[in-house]
Order: sequence, then C-alpha cells, then structure tokens
Amino acid sequence: MNLLEVRDLYVKYRSYWYTYHVLDGITLRVSPREKVGLIGESGAGKTTLLKSILQILPPQGRIVRGEVLWKGVDLLKADKGYVMNVRRKGIGMIFQDPLSALNPVFKIKDQLLEVLRYSYDGYSKSELLSLAEELIRSVLLPDPARVLESYPFQLSGGMRQRVVIAMALASAGDLLLADEPTTNLDVTIQDQILRLIDRLVIERGLSMILVSHALGVVAKMTHRVYTMYAGNIVEEAPTPKLFNEPLHPYTKLLIENVPRISSRRLGEGIKGNPPDYRYPPPGCRFHPRCPYAVDICKKVKPFCVKVSRDRRVACHMYSEGLEKVDGDVNAN
Ligand SMILES: Nc1ncnc2c1ncn2[C@@H]1O[C@H](COP(=O)(O)OP(=O)(O)OP(=O)(O)O)[C@@H](O)[C@H]1O
Ligand SMILES: [Mg+2]
Repeated sequence: MNLLEVRDLYVKYRSYWYTYHVLDGITLRVSPREKVGLIGESGAGKTTLLKSILQILPPQGRIVRGEVLWKGVDLLKADKGYVMNVRRKGIGMIFQDPLSALNPVFKIKDQLLEVLRYSYDGYSKSELLSLAEELIRSVLLPDPARVLESYPFQLSGGMRQRVVIAMALASAGDLLLADEPTTNLDVTIQDQILRLIDRLVIERGLSMILVSHALGVVAKMTHRVYTMYAGNIVEEAPTPKLFNEPLHPYTKLLIENVPRISSRRLGEGIKGNPPDYRYPPPGCRFHPRCPYAVDICKKVKPFCVKVSRDRRVACHMYSEGLEKVDGDVNAN
C-alpha cells in the first residue's frame, strides 16, 4: 500500500482583490521507505503542496478539492484529532526557512521538549529530556547538554539547521518532508547536512519527499522524481531515467539549464516566466514557453499518460492513443 497518496488536488490563494489558482490537480504517491524528489522552478507550488499535505497553509490558502490519503485515510475528511496525530507522530517537515522554525527567545531545550511532549504523550519530563539529548546526538551535534541549554543565536547556522532537523525527526514517524533543507547554509555545510538527512531517513526506515533546486542532489538522493510546472505534475519517472532521458519539454529545459561550475556559461534559466496564477493560460500551462507547442496545447489541458511501465508524462506530444492515468496513481 502507498504510505501517502495525493489525488487530484486543487489549491488556491485569495487576496482581497484576486484569486490565485495555484495547484491544478496534483496527483502523487509515496511508498514506505521511498525517497521521492520534487523539482521545478521557483513558484511552481512545491511548498504549497507540502503544506497542503499537512493542512498548514497560510490563512489565504484554500484546498478546493482533492484527496490526501495517509495510509488509506483521507486527511482532508478526517477529524482534527486524527490530523493532529499525523502531524505529531507521522509526518515531520523541515521548512524552507529554518530560522522561522526556531523561536529566538526560547532555549533549544524548551522548543524541542515542546515538540516531544506532543509526540510522546505519557512520558515523564526526564524521559523526554533524554529523548531530546538522543535526538541532538543523532544529528551529530557535539555536547548535547550544552546545545539544549543554548538559545538559537548562540549556535552557528549549520548547528541551528541540525536542531531543526532533530525537531522534524521528532514527529517524522514515517515520512519526512524536506523543503529545500539547506537553502540558507554555507555551501561547505550543505553537503554534510544532506548526507546526514539521507542517513537518518535510511536508518529510521522513513520515506521522504525532497524538494530541491540542486538537481544533482535530487539525482543522488532519491528513487523517483516528479517534475512540477505551475501547479501541475508534468512528468514522473525513476530518478536515473528522468535525468538521463527526460521526456517532457519542461523537464528537458530544466535539466539543460542547470548552472554548471565547469562550464564558462552560467545557466541562463528557461526563457519566459511562470504564469500569472490569477489568469493561468488555458490548455497546457506551459504552452506559452514551450518550444514545441502546437494548436491543441493552447486549448486542451494534457492529461497524464503512462508512456511505459514506470513513467508518466502530461504532454500532448505523448498522449496520442494512450490512456489517461490521472487520479489512478496505483497503476504502474
Ligand atoms: N499566501 C499567499 N498568497 C498568495 N499567493 C501565494 C501565497 N503563498 C504562495 N503564493 C503563490 O503561490 C505560488 C506557489 O508558491 P510556492 O511557495 O508553493 O512555490 P515553490 O515552488 O515552493 O517556490 P520556491 O522554489 O521559490 O520555494 C507562487 O506564485 C506564490 O506567489
Ligand atoms: Mg518553496
């Protein structure tokens, strides 16, 4: 059985004047112990998707329709208590902005105990404290007792990020959502932190959704990858296939435009901009930027088709004569 299954999920944001139609029918699945990558330009809706899974969108955000099945139970229909329990014991999230995850006025100890108190109800304070120490040790921070007595500002950026990972692990009984887990860190530390996350996920038998702009990292750390463009999943494939032989025009451009230190040319990015979510283009949302767009792309939204046993693409170039598999995430 899938651990997590998102089916045909639509999410919008509202401001006073406008409605932003961001997630546009997302379907995705994660199996036990599977590491899944989520790639796509800034603004594609990756963070929106992760926050929708946990139902922690900002107040302007609204899930319009769809299903978020956790071990077969739809979290969007489940009662509040059930969802809280999943947040405390099932799914942990490392946020894109790690500093906002730590409160500057409380000691690390108090913040970690607060999380643990919910995840391990019935434990005594001293039991929780030793759990906290164990967690701090597991993220390879020396002198856990001292770290626990520190305030966030007394730790370096890399140390703070390890604390944030420890806090996410406290509630990640089955799944870790890692949203750009090394964005604000020094390049030299990024690699250490990623290897640490990878090791902990494997050791603890967790599944993971990893969001990263560093495609090399996604290539190394995941089993399967989804490409996301403007609120749609446009391609899904086992990681080596997706990077060696991308099918969707957008995935191809994304991979070709990775900045390479070895080449003199810096990645220029993909021409054009992601769409204005207030007025998303009809048909395929990528058509205004797609070098292969033809008439149908401007009118009809391409559905996801299975192009081989383990690959899916949403593009008219591939859809002729193939069956729609949107919403049928079990079909492999
Ligand atoms: N509170 C909000 N109100 C209105 N629009 C929002 C809000 N939060 C996000 N958005 C919009 O939703 C779209 C998707 O944002 P999201 O943060 O999910 O993208 P992302 O793929 O995580 O990008 P990045 O790679 O930069 O983190 C963006 O266009 C963003 O401006
Ligand atoms: Mg984001």
